[in-house]
Amino acid sequence: MSALSSPAGGPNPGLLPEAGSPPPPGAVATEPSPDQVKLCCARTYQRDAVALILGDSYHPGGLDLTRRLGRSLELRTGQRVLDVASGPGTTAFLLAAEFGVNVEGVDLGEEAVAKANARAAAEGLAEQVRFSVGDAERLPLEDSSVDAIVCECAFCTFPDKPTAAAEMARVLRPGGRLGITDVVLDPSRLHAELQTLAGWVACLADARPLDEYAELLAAAGLRVTMTESHDTALAKMIDQIDARLVAFRMAAAPALAGVDFDVARQRTALAAEAVRDGIAGYALLVAEKPA
Ligand SMILES: C[S@@+](CC[C@H](N)C(=O)[O-])C[C@H]1O[C@@H](n2cnc3c(N)ncnc32)[C@H](O)[C@@H]1O
Repeated sequence: MSALSSPAGGPNPGLLPEAGSPPPPGAVATEPSPDQVKLCCARTYQRDAVALILGDSYHPGGLDLTRRLGRSLELRTGQRVLDVASGPGTTAFLLAAEFGVNVEGVDLGEEAVAKANARAAAEGLAEQVRFSVGDAERLPLEDSSVDAIVCECAFCTFPDKPTAAAEMARVLRPGGRLGITDVVLDPSRLHAELQTLAGWVACLADARPLDEYAELLAAAGLRVTMTESHDTALAKMIDQIDARLVAFRMAAAPALAGVDFDVARQRTALAAEAVRDGIAGYALLVAEKPA
């Protein structure tokens, strides 16, 4: 089954393909609709199987890179921070605990948002960390209302990047900073099998070169002040995903019942090759809204 023949939100959203549904050899890139991409992405990332494979945070570099991001933004106690596409909320909880900021996470995944809010309540942090359902391309916040914005491993998946960048610029206060960590890519050299909805959800198919991210932010009125390469973090994450696929297959983990491990590992191998060949990498960007 090609990634696109799996309906968004259906049983096989692409990242962990199901047995009996291999993609056709040399699957041709087909453009999914923006809504299909968003729904598929949100549903995929709230699956238990994904938590099992990715661990606590769903981006390369894990908590260390989130700390680096917080320091790069010079976050200070009491500031209001927005986490766009907050997923399980790990970034938000870390920034609240280690930088003393108040964080609002926005994500399209209803279950992910409910779980993250439940964690905030259980940890007595509901006043400091809260999450709501929303689209990065239509942020549910007032103009100039936050001191800083973070967005980890998600900008690459937004179908309308100029609108998402404009939304982040709109809600950021003058002088505020935006920090993005994301996949960077030479799209012209990406293997056809990764240019599918599965590749999109896995943060590869619509990732862009670093310069293009900077241009998108500049077009939204933000000034890029820093960029940093973290390619090894991406390579490490792919290795870790592959190791977990092997281990969970051997353990016959119930959460991964039905997953076609061979197809999943073929995709992982292609992604690893893309990093080795300099086609894909990971980067941190900081941008400022002029005061
Ligand atoms: C790779 S995960 C990253 C999650 C989190 N930022 C992290 O690093 O742990 C991508 C997240 O983006 C969310 N997402 C995708 N498209 C979105 C959109 N248009 N608006 C809000 N969230 C979106 C998904 O639901 C998913 O939680």
